[in-house]
Amino acid sequence: MRVLVTGGAGFLGSYLCEALLAEGHSVIVADNFLTGRAANLAHLSHESRLELRWLDIIKPFDPGAVDYVFHFASPASPVDYMVHGVETLEVGSLGTFNCLEVARRYGARFFLASTSECYGDPLEHPQKETYWGHVNPIGPRSVYDEAKRFTEAATVAYRRYHNVDTRIVRIFNTYGPRLQLNDGRVVSNFMKQALRGEDLTVYGDGHQTRSFCYVSDEIDGFIRLSKSNEHLPVNIGNPNEFTILECAQLVLKVTGSKSKIRYEPLPQDDPKQRQPDITKARQLLGWEPKVGLETGLRLSLDYFQKAVAEEVAAS
Ligand SMILES: NC(=O)c1ccc[n+]([C@@H]2O[C@H](COP(=O)([O-])OP(=O)(O)OC[C@H]3O[C@@H](n4cnc5c(N)ncnc54)[C@H](O)[C@@H]3O)[C@@H](O)[C@H]2O)c1
Repeated sequence: MRVLVTGGAGFLGSYLCEALLAEGHSVIVADNFLTGRAANLAHLSHESRLELRWLDIIKPFDPGAVDYVFHFASPASPVDYMVHGVETLEVGSLGTFNCLEVARRYGARFFLASTSECYGDPLEHPQKETYWGHVNPIGPRSVYDEAKRFTEAATVAYRRYHNVDTRIVRIFNTYGPRLQLNDGRVVSNFMKQALRGEDLTVYGDGHQTRSFCYVSDEIDGFIRLSKSNEHLPVNIGNPNEFTILECAQLVLKVTGSKSKIRYEPLPQDDPKQRQPDITKARQLLGWEPKVGLETGLRLSLDYFQKAVAEEVAAS
């Protein structure tokens, strides 16, 4: 197939490109490098089936005939989407329409990268796909949460009104090599602080929970869902729940760091609990994650050590 990946120079997009190339497809990446990096795809530069296009998808664009559109473009980390709030809303709304139009024009299938943030600060735990969420529409996180909820509504509308063949994945917190060092996500924050010998910052009392999915598991889920016939949203994430404090302690163990833990006030609208119910993915796709948190942190250690060393050398 000839496949379009928007946001392909980002963390998840770059792994998705690898997986699609490995499946034998040709891949066009559309990315404006707002939060992505060419370095994420540098190891694929010899690959003649990969084409990288500098494109801001909030403007209409035409990649030529494609068979599948994977729409991953959007700032994703809290640091990024709070700095680029308007761009996040634009790529979720205008950008999503433009991608859906490409799929409609060429009769391509469409795969949306949505998020567990659609559930907001959930009142149901763990979160099933049937839960409609608990989101503050005007809070600081709303630029991302509401943009992603809109992407789902637009995707469902193109299916309903224009017969576009769609898939929606609700991605839960994913980590691994190529996570940006300064993106404010839990794993990158802790790894960076531990490797620099700084205090690990825990917001609130650290008893709020998160689930962490290693990137290879997450991508396996995407590929399986892309081949399935399921059109309603599917959670892909690791259901093993950790408190933020437990995660901090594991990072200290894996890095061998002597850093201490420092407590700071909880940011507004920070979810207290987040855990996917993956019954649907298990039954429908035969998918479940294989990599535990400690193993995943060990697999990421080398990358974070190099990233910290590069930052130190550049400063
Ligand atoms: N990483 C996670 O844990 C996670 C969790 C839930 C959902 N997601 C979703 O997965 C997708 C990818 O996330 P990520 O972690 O790889 O983030 P990322 O920031 O690393 O990648 C996003 C990519 O989109 C590109 N982009 C942004 N705006 C664009 C525009 N207007 N035109 C073209 N390209 C644009 C960026 O340059 C970047 O390469 C996002 O849609 C995000 O909402 C990720």
